Amino acid sequence: MMRWPVLATLSLCALTTLASGMPSSERRVELDYLLTQDCGSCHGLTMKGGLGPALTPESLAGKPAVYLQTTILHGRPGTAMPPWRGILTDAESLWLAERLLAGEVGR
Ligand code: HEC
Repeated sequence: MMRWPVLATLSLCALTTLASGMPSSERRVELDYLLTQDCGSCHGLTMKGGLGPALTPESLAGKPAVYLQTTILHGRPGTAMPPWRGILTDAESLWLAERLLAGEVGR
């Protein structure tokens, strides 16, 4: 009966991941890659700006995560910022916005 605690812990982790809408660890690696390669082609490899504005915590200060998420999902019509819905889910785009705000990208 030594196996039960392990099983219970594992399923609890799976539930927490689902409930928070956090991307799986595999998907997070893909999202990080997307962020530096695709987003980085406009916003700079270290998010300090290029064709697109800098996405560093300093330059995003005061902007709510949901506002950034909306920009990521729908793009900015009339600018070079493309919409990413269809490629990214709601939860994934919010997760990316939060990573940018926390400065956990491009370091
Ligand atoms: C083809 C170039 C291009 C690509 C690729 C691109 N962006 Fe952008 N992005 C822009 C431009 C240009 C703006 C500024 C739009 C404006 O003038 O309002 C912008 C704006 C933004 C903003 C709003 C910044 C602010 O200060 O309000 C966020 C957040 C953002 N992009 C995130 C992303 C993410 C995440 C990706 C990748 C999934 C991405 N962008 C890919 C060009 C790009």
